[in-house]
Amino acid sequence: MTSDAVPGTPPAPHSLYGRTVVVAGGTGAVGKALVRRLVEIGAKPAIAVRKAWQVAPMRELFGGADGLVAVVAPGDGEAAAGFLKGARDSLGPVAAVLSAAGAFRTAEIGRDRAGDDTGLFEANFVATHTLVRAAVGGMCRSRAGVIAVVGADCVGTPIPGMGLYQASKAALHAYAEVLAAEVADHGVAVAVVAPGVLDTEANRSAMPDADRSSWTPVEHVVDALLDAAAGGAVPGALTTVRVPAPVA
Ligand SMILES: NC(=O)c1ccc[n+]([C@@H]2O[C@H](COP(=O)([O-])OP(=O)(O)OC[C@H]3O[C@@H](n4cnc5c(N)ncnc54)[C@H](OP(=O)(O)O)[C@@H]3O)[C@@H](O)[C@H]2O)c1
Repeated sequence: MTSDAVPGTPPAPHSLYGRTVVVAGGTGAVGKALVRRLVEIGAKPAIAVRKAWQVAPMRELFGGADGLVAVVAPGDGEAAAGFLKGARDSLGPVAAVLSAAGAFRTAEIGRDRAGDDTGLFEANFVATHTLVRAAVGGMCRSRAGVIAVVGADCVGTPIPGMGLYQASKAALHAYAEVLAAEVADHGVAVAVVAPGVLDTEANRSAMPDADRSSWTPVEHVVDALLDAAAGGAVPGALTTVRVPAPVA
């Protein structure tokens, strides 16, 4: 409650209430939590998934509220353009593109498996770019909107075994920085949310004996994405949000 709120009065609607929000990576741990929150605050999610069988379970998250789910393979610009047109026509102008798409794999360079390189770049970079390139023209024409993507806090810190992962996330960070400069004069803002290790079921089963005290709840990433979309990111230089925030 804000200090000037009158007790007993309902809270003001979220600034994304009734607004169209395009989501990538909506089937993942962060993505599902994000979609649930978007529905809770009354936003209209438009979710791109990779596989046809993912459409129905994602629609169930809407619980009857407005939203759209469609299959858009990473790199399929035609499908992405059709999806964005469908989202705008059926739900309204796009207020934000939020990407929680990504994948993680480790192997020292030279010991990586065939396809690790292209797979990581597809998940951590191409999937997001495919939707952004379809959405950005409309956002610039309406002179409003936020593009917020999930990168990784480890970018810039060399960690053995993480060369391909870090390279693919670094590509996303560099891309977002240039995008922010390109769209700033068109009223569009860009943010990178860069988390450390997240407390997900997948990480708990992959690292059963790890000390989880420094792990970040998935909801904190969702909060950072929504804060960026709700005005925390403004047109100009790239907004970078580390989650958790670094200790001063
Ligand atoms: N988990 C962590 O500890 C951690 C730490 C730092 C950063 N991050 C980043 O945080 C974000 C969310 O993480 P998460 O734990 O929620 O991940 P997750 O549960 O593994 O979900 C990943 C999402 O990305 C999609 N995806 C995977 N490969 C793809 C590809 N090749 N093309 C298009 N989409 C693809 C998945 O779709 P499908 O369901 O179709 O596979 C899913 O929707 C990701 O960007 C991740 O890199 C995570």
